[in-house]
Amino acid sequence: MSTNEADTSNPYAGREQTLVKHLILEAYLGRFAHIVGNKWKTITYVDCFSGPWNVQSDKLEDSSFSIALRQLRKAKSDLADHGKSLSLRCFFLEKDPDPYRRLREFVDGISDAEVATRNAALEESVQDICDFVKGGGASSFPFIFIDPTGWTGFSIDVIRPLLQLKPGETLINFMTGHISRFAETPDSSTRATFDRLFGSIDYRSRIGHLEGQDREDELAQCYMDAVQRAGGFEYVCSAIVLHPQKDRTHFHLIYATRHPKGVEVFKQAEKKAMSVMEEARAGAQRRHRIQKTRQNEFVFDSKSMRDDEYYQSLRHRYLAAAEGHVLETLVRAKRVLYDDVWGVLSRYPLVREHDLKKWIHEWRSEGRVQLEGLSASDRVPKRGKGHWLVHAREK
Ligand SMILES: C[S@@+](CC[C@H](N)C(=O)[O-])C[C@H]1O[C@@H](n2cnc3c(N)ncnc32)[C@H](O)[C@@H]1O
Repeated sequence: MSTNEADTSNPYAGREQTLVKHLILEAYLGRFAHIVGNKWKTITYVDCFSGPWNVQSDKLEDSSFSIALRQLRKAKSDLADHGKSLSLRCFFLEKDPDPYRRLREFVDGISDAEVATRNAALEESVQDICDFVKGGGASSFPFIFIDPTGWTGFSIDVIRPLLQLKPGETLINFMTGHISRFAETPDSSTRATFDRLFGSIDYRSRIGHLEGQDREDELAQCYMDAVQRAGGFEYVCSAIVLHPQKDRTHFHLIYATRHPKGVEVFKQAEKKAMSVMEEARAGAQRRHRIQKTRQNEFVFDSKSMRDDEYYQSLRHRYLAAAEGHVLETLVRAKRVLYDDVWGVLSRYPLVREHDLKKWIHEWRSEGRVQLEGLSASDRVPKRGKGHWLVHAREK
């Protein structure tokens, strides 16, 4: 995917948030399909809000379903080179007849995957999707992508059966910016749509006293809790996608999995997408400035011009919150499995495992934390090895 702003063929100019969403989907699915394809015979990919939506490419190359299929096909071909056979199955859903027609034309050209499509709303298609997933048999791994345009049509009660698919993983676009603006509307029927989105009214008391970034973060956490509860997921992660020109959140991509490896791969995809996001935002902000002043600035590489103060402030915010959360968990439980600490960390965007390892190093040198279960050859704690963090009681 190109982010070069001088490239007039850039299909993402002016919608850099979609570029970031597609990059995360692409990077995550690329690794996911190779890892899952090594163990499972079939991947069943479900796009519940397929589009195409605002695509620029005649061949729909900048649609989520085309991006996903490219990654799944690449994994299938790479695995075939190693003598492994991976079958691909896709279910593409689209409510609007016009985009559905284009989706159908695209699907008619596919011969290397089993693809089902429906021109219907998600609310009336969940049973069809579950039946299609089951049709993949016991050795099929489903991945569910939910990418709506607002906050309706995917209430927790509607998507619960999809979240409960085992095995299974989910990626959901949570439109934080809009949701934060309207979540406490006095209009009772609109309010009810938010209650359905979260599956309960707990979110109301959790955000009632909050404003700005605190409110957005809490809304995302409320939704992550709702998804985690409904699907019985061990891990829920979020990646923050910023407005291209303004210092505010556009949406969160919420990812839920039952496997710690998924968190690792999602965080790698997030990291890759974040550096492209900051470059693309610098380019978008510069274009905006030029349009406003109608003067040409000297054309620098967007990297060298970038003003990532807002992004860095968010990273510091989430680092502080994650470190506080891990320490609080340790103080409360006294002894915590490293894998569970990883679970706490997974919920914070922009925070990586190397940050956690740095804190643990500092806490150990300050005598606040000890490690247990490491063998002589283990210099740092690792997941899946029975390594524990033990809080040293303050004297
Ligand atoms: C944000 S767009 C999807 C973009 C696409 N995932 C991509 O990244 O290329 C959302 C799509 O969902 C469709 N849609 C809206 N409500 C729906 C519903 N309740 N069920 C299924 N599709 C719906 C819209 O017509 C639109 O095409």
